[in-house]
This record gives sequence, structure tokens and C-alpha cells, in this order.
Amino acid sequence: MIKQCIYRIGVGILILFLFFTLSVVGSARCADADGDGILSVADARIALRIAVRLDIPTEEQQKDCDLDRDGAITPADAREILRLSVGFGRSDDSANSGMPDAEFIGLTDNYYKVYNKNGVTYIDSIIIANKTYALPDDYDTNGLVNECRDAFAALQTAAKKDGVNIYLNSGFRPYSEQKELYDEYVRDYGTDYADAYAARPGHSEHQTGLAIDVTNDTGYFTGSPEAQWLHANCVQYGFILRYPEGKSDKTGYSPEAWHIRFVGTEKAAKLNGSGLCLEEYYGITSFYFQQTDQPPILF
Ligand code: DAL
Ligand code: ZN
Repeated sequence: MIKQCIYRIGVGILILFLFFTLSVVGSARCADADGDGILSVADARIALRIAVRLDIPTEEQQKDCDLDRDGAITPADAREILRLSVGFGRSDDSANSGMPDAEFIGLTDNYYKVYNKNGVTYIDSIIIANKTYALPDDYDTNGLVNECRDAFAALQTAAKKDGVNIYLNSGFRPYSEQKELYDEYVRDYGTDYADAYAARPGHSEHQTGLAIDVTNDTGYFTGSPEAQWLHANCVQYGFILRYPEGKSDKTGYSPEAWHIRFVGTEKAAKLNGSGLCLEEYYGITSFYFQQTDQPPILF
């Protein structure tokens, strides 16, 4: 009995040690200029030397230390790295000033601050809903958020002027509707297929009132002229294409040419301009922790 207890405690310590090691190594990818796996003031010093042209960056440094992705390691990047190394988080993360009553819960792999307010996750002042970050079951915006609805109306008008007809197919979905939709996918096609195309209830961006599925006259949207117009112009109206081609391993979903997410014009420009999907940009994951709603069993 005692032996079994000691064995279980040992396994527990080993799991915690592995988890801690992996999370430290995982989170040191960004801004780790000297590649030692630890983000420190030394990395900021290296970045600053590169910024003032005392040193030439390696390919790795160029990739990891150009935090604002403007193509060069500048004093602004070095300053960011210094902030990060002393635990301040990204300075362009404005969530703190906008949400003084939110609970700070940690930093992402790209050092953005993560906040929780009434069970909702915020990064860089925007709501995050994906496979990793769920919404409270009763989260209900009672339809599309006003800003999103108005921006979509402006987008539709602009499209029409260009001779392009884009329609709203699905906007806000409460938990109950998302559950019906997901359950139907599971019933018809199985869990693996369902999880590639539909969010489990609680995990859908449609529940935020900030996401819209669009369609066209034919109903075949992917690769259509309407899709091309949408992808070229949605950013101007504050939307990003949320599940782009080639990013399924990051977003957790099959590409959806029709699903746009409202983040405001400023953030849409910076996210879209980076060429990264939302998960990559902020350095977050999108996967379900477990297959059921049961708490994880370690032993
Ligand atoms: N189709 C997207 C992933 C959703 O169900 O929210
Ligand atoms: Zn959608």
C-alpha cells in the first residue's frame, strides 16, 4: 500500500516536472536571441546590438526577434524583448488598460497577456474562443455585436458597389444552437469529422456575436469571385479570415473561406498583415484538452 502510494507520488512529480520543462522550453521560442531556451536581459542586449547594426542577425534571430514583424530587428523590438525578459508582457497588449477588473492568468508563447473576465478569455483586448479557450455556457450577446453588424453592413454595401453579392448565412449562435449543430455533425459523420468542421458547444466564435459565415448566390463559396473579394477586402471593415488554407494545424479547423471574425480595423490590419492566423499571431493553441468533459485523470 505504502509502496503504491510512493510510486503514485513519484509518477505525479515526474509528470509535473515534464510539464514544467516543456512549458519553459515552449515559451522561450519567441525573442530567445541567444537560443539558450531562457528569455533574459541578455537577449534584449543582443537584439539591441543588432538594431544599432553592431551585429548581423542569424536567420533564427531574425525570425524570433522581429517581434513586430516589420522585417527588421529594431530598437522597438529590443525594448519589447527587455519588457518580456522582466515579465511585463507585450506592450501592444492593451487589455490591461481596457479591463482593469479582469484577472491576469498568464502569458502566451508570444508573451501576450491572457486575461479572464467572468469566464471569458481576452488577449490583446479581444475575446478568444477556440478549442483551447471556451466561453461560459450561458454567454449570450443576443445577436451580433453592434460594431460587427454595422461593419458587415458596410462590407456588403461596398461589395455590392463592386458587383459582388455577399450574404449573411449564419451569425450569432447561442450555446443551444451550437450544440444542435455539432451533435448533428457527430450523428451524421462521426466525431473526428465533426471536430474538423464544427466547434463543440462553448467553443464556437459564433457564440461571441463577432463571427459571421457568409454565402453567395450559388451557395458554393470556396474559390468563388465572392470569396476572392471577401478575402481581399474584409480587413478594411475590421474582419479577418479566421480559418485560412494551410493553417489547420494551428486553428484546429479545416479551412473555411466563409467564416470571418470581427476584431476591429486596427487589429485586423496587424493580424492580416502578419500573414499569420490568430493562434500563430498570439502564440496560443487550439485543441481540446480531453475527449470528454471529465476532469483529467493523472493516476
Ligand atoms: N465552423 C466553426 C469552426 C464553428 O462551428 O464555430
Ligand atoms: Zn463560422
